[in-house]
Amino acid sequence: MVDQPKIKLNNGVEIPALGLGTWQSKPEEVIHAVEYSLKEVGYRHIDCAWAYANEKEVGEGIRRSGVPREEIFVTSKLWSTRHNNVEKALDESLANLGLEYLDLYLVHWPVHLNPDGNHPNIPTKPDGTRDVVEDWHIRQTWEQMEAVYKKGKVRAIGVSNCSEKILEQLLPHATVVPAVDQLEIHLYNPQHELCAYLQSKGIVPQAYSPLGSTGSPLLQDERASAIAQRHNLQTADVLLGYILAKGYVVLPKSVTPSRIAANFKGALAAHKTLTKEDIEQLDKVAAAGKQKRFIMPPWPVDLGFRDWPGHTPLNMHI
Ligand SMILES: NC(=O)c1ccc[n+]([C@@H]2O[C@H](COP(=O)([O-])OP(=O)(O)OC[C@H]3O[C@@H](n4cnc5c(N)ncnc54)[C@H](OP(=O)(O)O)[C@@H]3O)[C@@H](O)[C@H]2O)c1
Repeated sequence: MVDQPKIKLNNGVEIPALGLGTWQSKPEEVIHAVEYSLKEVGYRHIDCAWAYANEKEVGEGIRRSGVPREEIFVTSKLWSTRHNNVEKALDESLANLGLEYLDLYLVHWPVHLNPDGNHPNIPTKPDGTRDVVEDWHIRQTWEQMEAVYKKGKVRAIGVSNCSEKILEQLLPHATVVPAVDQLEIHLYNPQHELCAYLQSKGIVPQAYSPLGSTGSPLLQDERASAIAQRHNLQTADVLLGYILAKGYVVLPKSVTPSRIAANFKGALAAHKTLTKEDIEQLDKVAAAGKQKRFIMPPWPVDLGFRDWPGHTPLNMHI
């Protein structure tokens, strides 16, 4: 197995710090991407979700790789229409993947959408806004997450897209502290304060969209490119190695074999090569005028994040 950084979660379970993302990976592509990443490159962590509509193919890729199940860290996520029935949703993901257990199960977004609404994934109200269950408290979801964890169906549980504001509403009710919070974290949206808060609570930040998501726009960044050139690395390597150097999990997505391999090797190389000064420079890029989010679904509620423009105050009962 390729030597790679691992992070110990708050329950002692170890997670490989570099994982393959699978959002927007087409079913026929993701089989090969997952198989290749595990068998040929050395990835041991796959990030998936029920909402990506490709869990069956991710499972097929895992089986085709021939890598033993216990060597692979598999994450899936509870979709928002399923907050009232966590175990059933988890069982569906397990059946899709063809797995007996998950290594990590996350609440995808801290918002419950109407399970009896007009669409299975994104139900909407007559005015077109998302059909949010307004009297739902996130602790009602979390209690069920704790139950499937205690049953042994998942080795760890966590959240995604949770701001400090939401976590402050969840943590007083939690008997199991979330192991991770998966967030949009990258050069242009480093969320320094939120990550420091998470780490103070023993919650590991996981960085999604580390290349800027669709079309990898962050590869154009001049500062990251200059640092890459100086160390004879690719810009992608610097963007990924930067996150590893911060002690977070990073989840680059690709379905292109050459990129799947380059991201893995390059991230590990940059993690070793980047200096303290490089990290300090990269830390300042967003605040120096580049702050930008790429993933902002139109939830009709304020999730409590900084730098999420155009949102009305939180109107959920939480
Ligand atoms: N929890 C959440 O709400 C949430 C939200 C978003 C994402 N995520 C997770 O995080 C993962 C990563 O985020 P993401 O998919 O948004 O974006 P990303 O990993 O930042 O970027 C993916 C894009 O970059 C391209 N790419 C990858 N490596 C490259 C390279 N070395 N050179 C040039 N282009 C490259 C990919 O193209 P090709 O695939 O065509 O190679 C794809 O277009 C997701 O797949 C998902 O698992 C979670």
